[in-house]
Amino acid sequence: MTHDSFKLFLASQKIEEMVKKIAIQVDDAYPPNEPLVCVAVLKGAWIFHADLVRAIKRPVTIDFIRAASYGAGSRSSGTVRILKDVEVELRDKHVLLVEEIVDSGRTLSFIKSRLANSDARSVKIAALLDKKERREVECEVDFLGTEVPNEFLVGYGLDWNENYRNLADIYSVPGEVLK
Ligand code: IMP
Ligand code: MG
Repeated sequence: MTHDSFKLFLASQKIEEMVKKIAIQVDDAYPPNEPLVCVAVLKGAWIFHADLVRAIKRPVTIDFIRAASYGAGSRSSGTVRILKDVEVELRDKHVLLVEEIVDSGRTLSFIKSRLANSDARSVKIAALLDKKERREVECEVDFLGTEVPNEFLVGYGLDWNENYRNLADIYSVPGEVLK
């Protein structure tokens, strides 16, 4: 199936503006000369992360973490496990978790609590999108692009069964199409 039935939700130009705004907030939030590690939450965040780190002006190091909730489909289940852990040393560094969309909050709150043992100087969250009304677990987003309604979105890293991550714009998939 093509994406003809999808509804344009956020055009790439608008996404670019949002990323630039987040980068400015990130640059302003940390004292100069204090190391910042930007950790992408794979897979969905990899495009947002790539754009964000290039818009951030201060020096950063990058890393990746991959978590999965048990079960498949368009809803995340209760349990989270780590498939790929962070590799760089986080001790005394500021850590910025980069996520493309926060839904129940389970993934990020799990990752954040895991990193609490790393002796990082701080652990904050940057998210492009936040489905706030879907939150089940408390999860504060420190740097946010925009809140979004409870619609299923694809593109710019967001997938539907591993498809459509490469779309430059973000689309909403109508409920009747998801069935
Ligand atoms: P959470 O643990 O429920 O917050 O799950 C967040 C993850 O669910 C995101 O990183 C995405 O991978 C996925 N997700 C949530 N909403 C959507 C969506 O609308 N489209 C695609 N993936 C989504
Ligand atoms: Mg994700």
